[in-house]
Amino acid sequence: MSAAAPVVLGIETSCDETGVGIVRGTELLANRIASSMELHARFGGVVPEIAARAHLEQMQPTILAALDDAGLTLDDLDAVAVTAGPGLAGALMVGIGAAKGLATARELPLYGVNHLVGHVAADVLSGEPLELPTVALLVSGGHTSLLVVRELAGDVELLGETIDDAAGEAFDKTARLLGLSYPGGPSIDAAAVGGDPAAIRFPRGLTAPKDRERHRFDFSFSGLKTAVARHVERAEAAGEPLPIADVAASFREAVVDVLVAKALDACAELGIPRLLLGGGVVANRRLREVAAERADAAGVLLRIPPLDLCTDNGAMIAAVGAMLVARGDAPSPAGFAAESTLDASTVQVTGDAPIHSPGWQDRGRAGRGGTA
Ligand code: KG4
Ligand code: ZN
Repeated sequence: MSAAAPVVLGIETSCDETGVGIVRGTELLANRIASSMELHARFGGVVPEIAARAHLEQMQPTILAALDDAGLTLDDLDAVAVTAGPGLAGALMVGIGAAKGLATARELPLYGVNHLVGHVAADVLSGEPLELPTVALLVSGGHTSLLVVRELAGDVELLGETIDDAAGEAFDKTARLLGLSYPGGPSIDAAAVGGDPAAIRFPRGLTAPKDRERHRFDFSFSGLKTAVARHVERAEAAGEPLPIADVAASFREAVVDVLVAKALDACAELGIPRLLLGGGVVANRRLREVAAERADAAGVLLRIPPLDLCTDNGAMIAAVGAMLVARGDAPSPAGFAAESTLDASTVQVTGDAPIHSPGWQDRGRAGRGGTA
């Protein structure tokens, strides 16, 4: 490895973005993203098999484009990092397979890392040092997680998460209910222009006093989605036109309100005056506005990385890898597998995949090969 900060190539395929990023320590050298979003549009949400196939097709061109952007060749890399989870299993497997192939062929150390930690680590690439500890709110089509980060590559704790739909998923499903296109976030944003956010008081999930004990930092958006559906049905039954701008603005307000309230409640409870936002839903201007206003009022410092580092990307995964390399951590074992429900506190996967080698109990049974 070179004496300077390690050059790490990161691969991200947990959902519908094929992301390949290259960093040198905390310096961003390349951040290429090929999204299969438009292939999922007519289904109203990400179809795992389509995402996996698109990753397969996009992987090589995206790696080559990232190297080109960075002005590097494979010879310049010190390590490879890849998202090991959480995410869609089939999609993760494509990235892990590519990363293993690359690392093996080039004899490079390989780090299987946590996608959620990547979202937090993205902030170190924005140029300013990230002050720790911080509370982090990660909101995308796949996750809604509230974390406390005490040490980036080592001490990350999950405070709470969604118990049903992710925040972005709520936007996507509600957009479908309203006859708007996928992805739902931008189309609800567009539909909400001129709408009154206070027109309809939609429910704020898990904010009732009875939820405080068990679900203080958890989220729920399915009740909200149902409330919008009822609203649409009532308007249809009454033969009234749907006030779409008001519905969209009121729905968005309910999501934003609950996200910001719970994140700032976590800051207050833990005595941590810092909040970091990440994930594709951060593209929502109303979310950024309300978070900025209320964080300011609460004396909380708000950090929002540039949008192309907020959405799923390979650079954030490379950033986690670079931290592990710099710290002298051992690479992940060659046999690690995709872990679709990987816990937020596991920064790097260090175990081999379970090998179902046929023992005496299995003899004669078909279909039990080893896994990789
Ligand atoms: O992080 P991301 O690009 O991919 C993953 O889902 O992991 O996030 C995509 C999600 C989609 O659900 C999309 O509807 C949502 O982010 N999104 C938004 C906006 N732009 C994208 N949600 C609310 N407002 C937006 N402007
Ligand atoms: Zn994500």
